[in-house]
Amino acid sequence: MLPLLPMEGHTSGKRSAVTCHLKCADACFHPVPNPTANEYFRDIVGAALSRRSLLIGAGVGAAAIVLGSGSLNAPPALAAPPVGPMGRGLAFSPIAPVPAAVDAFVVPQGYRWSPIIRWGDPIFSAADRFDPEHQTAQLQSRQFGYNNDYLDIIQQDGRHSRKAVLVANHEYTNEGIMFPPAADDAQADEQRHIAMMAHGLSIVALRRKDAGQPWVYRVGDRVNRRITATTPFTLTGPAAGAAALKTAADPDGLTVLGTLGNCAGGTTPWGTILSGEENFNGYFRSPGVSAADARYGLADRATGRGWERIDPRFDATTPGYENEPNRFGWIVEIDPEEPNSVPVKHTALGRFKHEGANVIVGTTGHVAAYMGDDERFDYLYKFVSTDTFDPSGKPRARTHNKTLLTRGSLYVARFAGNSPQSEITGTGQLPTDGQFDGTGRWIALVIDGVSQVPGFTVEEALINTRLAADAVGATKMDRCEDVEPSPLTGKVYVACTNNTDRGKIGREGATEPNPRTANRDGHIVEITEDGSDATATTFTWNLLLVCGDPATNTSTYFAGFPADQVSPISCPDNVAFDVEGNLWISTDGAPSTIGLCDGLFKVPLEGPERGRVQQFLSVPRESETCGPVIRAEESMVYVAVQHPGEGGSWDAQTSRFPDYVPAGTTPAEGAWAGPRPAVAQVWKVS
Ligand code: FEO
Ligand code: CA
Ligand code: CA
Repeated sequence: MLPLLPMEGHTSGKRSAVTCHLKCADACFHPVPNPTANEYFRDIVGAALSRRSLLIGAGVGAAAIVLGSGSLNAPPALAAPPVGPMGRGLAFSPIAPVPAAVDAFVVPQGYRWSPIIRWGDPIFSAADRFDPEHQTAQLQSRQFGYNNDYLDIIQQDGRHSRKAVLVANHEYTNEGIMFPPAADDAQADEQRHIAMMAHGLSIVALRRKDAGQPWVYRVGDRVNRRITATTPFTLTGPAAGAAALKTAADPDGLTVLGTLGNCAGGTTPWGTILSGEENFNGYFRSPGVSAADARYGLADRATGRGWERIDPRFDATTPGYENEPNRFGWIVEIDPEEPNSVPVKHTALGRFKHEGANVIVGTTGHVAAYMGDDERFDYLYKFVSTDTFDPSGKPRARTHNKTLLTRGSLYVARFAGNSPQSEITGTGQLPTDGQFDGTGRWIALVIDGVSQVPGFTVEEALINTRLAADAVGATKMDRCEDVEPSPLTGKVYVACTNNTDRGKIGREGATEPNPRTANRDGHIVEITEDGSDATATTFTWNLLLVCGDPATNTSTYFAGFPADQVSPISCPDNVAFDVEGNLWISTDGAPSTIGLCDGLFKVPLEGPERGRVQQFLSVPRESETCGPVIRAEESMVYVAVQHPGEGGSWDAQTSRFPDYVPAGTTPAEGAWAGPRPAVAQVWKVS
């Protein structure tokens, strides 16, 4: 029997090495794949330290945060921060942070929660019910997938809608807790087929009785759809049909089967869904000899998933399939209104470990898509369309808008310090008002389908985008996750989740936009495009947050807000906005950094409460918070809960999320004892 996905290195009760192994193919245990020396910032460790000492003032005297028990639906309120006026919209008292070992979904006083849809819930027919003991690939292809990440709830008639469409993607699978141990190779291979069907995206209709009330999903609705690791996609843009995208099964280089590693995403102004193919490299065995292979983490070794055993396209050492890995690592676009439409992969937006993409319409009508490459020392990108957005709402306008991401220009960010005349860092001093006023430029890789990088054709710049960005001297960032413009101000928020390698021997040290060595807790950069135009090629920037637990960490910064009045926060991942323009941040990694369950946090961006981080909810043990959707106008919040109980095993599960049994009762005979990744809704009851 072949071993499936070993779990070495797991530490019970904390965010474990399991995520690294399953999600990222142990990227953190491999050398950093960006060894280039494009250091346009001098090492400013000393300056960063002096900044840190400046920030200590915010942490001195911070009150100890009282940790609550995390009891389900009834948490104690955070003890220290006073609850100020929240204005219109979503009012809540911040919850107390929840210790990492607690298996509970915790919401503020006066709120309730329930799952909308869980892994294995049937989408097309109630007959396809979840039975983990007898799962098949056919059933899984007709059920909600695993490990939901990006999420949107598209309400068809706005706030008072009783109809909506839920869209979620499914990043990866955890066979060790999804299936019983395989008895032989044949059963292990069947589990691999099931896992392929648990990847991709799900689209499901929702109904409810009234605004502000919880939703139920509708089995068998016309819009319901599953997209999996075998669904055909059409390649678009300048690299479609390139020789490097052709395989034996697709000699035209235009049609790819499936989508993998879907992480964050965005909903476009024209109503389609974008999703980022992130850690695709972990699915492929590759020759591992080229510079591009090394840069993308592709290697000649058996994969943890073993899909190369059941489908030759996952073995790029097989003649005819050498280019298959090049067909992943793109932004995909799906139209949730047209269940029979063929989804697309946009080559114009470049190929890297795409976290996601968020689109905004610029002042000239051209649209910009902001994108992060989530790897240590990788880059921040922007795409600007050649054509302009048609806001008319007519059917032909939608058809036109769906072409906007096929033609345009691709840029990568180069940050500078606070001296506009220099690309070398400025003083490194952070004024106490938080306004750093650094500058930056978007460096063109491709303009209107023409490569701007010497030595790169447009196909090469788009397929091996990391190499092109290396060549132009982009700024190395601390793992850009979600990058999203505020719909109210146009300012762009970049969640840099962490980078503990920063400052290690041979690695770049602290820089002004990445101000900490051994950056364990992450930070958020705030970008203002010049002229407030998303299509600008120059910008200014600040640090909004330098994350951590201010009770124990003096290097935190909360836009100048008193650090003893905020919720501790670590590893920002996804961001979203409410109608008032507040930023909401979901986290991935707090258990292993500050010993707390991950959560969802609100932070005002304007006025006297700018920087006041307040925790709204906490997710169960060993899970991350994903895909926040904030409907403050009706006091509802939605999140995707990914990898609950990821450190367990089939026989020793560590979470029962979301199907908890009331305290003091015994689960029914035969009840599923394991976790189910799920979309959760939170609504106000008092
Ligand atoms: Fe899938 Fe970058 O998180
Ligand atoms: Ca993420
Ligand atoms: Ca987002």
